[in-house]
Amino acid sequence: MILLLLGTKNEGKLSELRELLADLEGVEFLTFHARPFKSVEEIGLTFDANARLKARTIGAETGLPVLAEDAGLEVDALGGEPGVHSARFAGVPVDYERNNTLLLERLAGVRDRKARFIAVAVLCFPDGREFVSEGILTGRIARKLEGEGGFGYDPLFIPDGFSRTLAEMTLVDKNRISHRRRAIEGIKQVLRELAHD
Ligand code: IMP
Repeated sequence: MILLLLGTKNEGKLSELRELLADLEGVEFLTFHARPFKSVEEIGLTFDANARLKARTIGAETGLPVLAEDAGLEVDALGGEPGVHSARFAGVPVDYERNNTLLLERLAGVRDRKARFIAVAVLCFPDGREFVSEGILTGRIARKLEGEGGFGYDPLFIPDGFSRTLAEMTLVDKNRISHRRRAIEGIKQVLRELAHD
């Protein structure tokens, strides 16, 4: 049995991760509620760097294997912003409503609404083994907020092939297509192999 700490304090992410990982056998998950850890300052310049930083730092503090993830939104018309600054786009403390308002302001009158969510998941073991997996969800930024579900920029993000925002979908439906789902899929593959060794 592998005991794995989920390295995030974001309740939106935790709900999605719990559902995504529910079918995994041989792995037991802990969250910060049961095993508290300090917040990690995200000073990396890429999602990859920040995900590794979180997994390694929380792993060093707790001595446990850690699954951490860094994600964000890249908007073409904004040159890839907010990118790694997605959480604090409109400043600190993190405020989803202000972030969404700022995003709509920046895109006022802009026709090119193409955007993508990126997630990088990192699994880090106390012996130094590290596994990385990336997931991307392409789509566009809506003209106004729609939906109550999800978190962050979900009320403004319409995935390619859909006419609804992520916030209008159930958690299960979002998890079928999301960047997080795709990143976690790679990590689940590794965990399945390790749990059977
Ligand atoms: P971090 O990965 O904790 O640094 O946070 C990334 C930020 O990107 C979040 O605060 C959200 O604003 C945004 N974000 C990441 N994933 C999602 C998602 O699945 N939906 C909506 N916003 C997201």
